[in-house]
Amino acid sequence: GSHILSVNQFDLDSIHTIFSVAERMTPYALREKRTRVLDGAILGNLFFEPSTRTRVSFGCAFNLLGGRVAETVGMAASSLSKGESLYDTARVLSTYSDVIAMRHPDAYSVREFAEGSRVPVINGGDGPNEHPTQALLDLFTIQKELGHAGRGIDGMHIAMVGDLKFGRTVHSLSRMLCLYKNVSFTLISPKELAMPDYVIADIENAGHKVTITDQLEGNLDQADILYLTRIQEERFPSQEEANKYRGKFRLNRSIYTQHCKSNTVIMHPLPRDSRAQANELDNDLNSHPNLAIFRQADNGLLIRMALFALTLGVDEQLEQYECPVNW
Ligand code: CP
Repeated sequence: GSHILSVNQFDLDSIHTIFSVAERMTPYALREKRTRVLDGAILGNLFFEPSTRTRVSFGCAFNLLGGRVAETVGMAASSLSKGESLYDTARVLSTYSDVIAMRHPDAYSVREFAEGSRVPVINGGDGPNEHPTQALLDLFTIQKELGHAGRGIDGMHIAMVGDLKFGRTVHSLSRMLCLYKNVSFTLISPKELAMPDYVIADIENAGHKVTITDQLEGNLDQADILYLTRIQEERFPSQEEANKYRGKFRLNRSIYTQHCKSNTVIMHPLPRDSRAQANELDNDLNSHPNLAIFRQADNGLLIRMALFALTLGVDEQLEQYECPVNW
């Protein structure tokens, strides 16, 4: 069991292993089968920044494998707010847990925490830097969604839209896509919120084609995957500053129908900002079959179950510890 801190630690082989274990998690996630393979194990679920999907799916993934969860929610509930270091926090909490999932508002904070931890640490998002488990579930989703139509990741075209500067999910996903061949990227953002140069350099070094623009319409017609993001207002110095960019790019049914291919898959890491001034992904697409956002979130549970099983070395014992399903 080692830490999961960055997508840079994955290669195609390790990704395929994670995806194949994730597929095997499906009956347990659907409650068709039950396993106690992690009976007696404890997850330290430490979220120092708001989260719905990542926090709850880490916790539920661990529960579904038979383990228990100890949680800290919010900085104010932790002695970090009294000046305690990440290192000391890690030393103490890692004696209580078998594995730790953590989110924190500062870049590289999870790495710093991992240095003090005696158990594996999984990065659930470190500020604007990375969100590796999201990238895995995004890639897993892309593979499944395109696979239905006999398409694949090699040779695909992805359009990423919105706050590409502070959106950590697009940083992690872009680097993960560097493991594949001939991916075309269209990066659509306000100039001030462009993809960081070091991520663009990685994409170009992988031999991928990159188009950078600040216009949505007219730049979507090639996309197999349309990956939308929210303006990450919590990373801006003020609400007013974030408001300059909210609502700049909006996808709704009419824009989708007019500007995208009929099989373009719509993704978003969520949360989408549904307030009127933002609304980057309109509810009028909710029933559209190409809207993959909730399948994407569902895949997150499978991926996180797989990561726990692999990190704790129990992926071969799921069946051995099966028990009756009863409520
Ligand atoms: N996608 C994602 O990380 O969602 P949460 O912030 O709700 O965890």
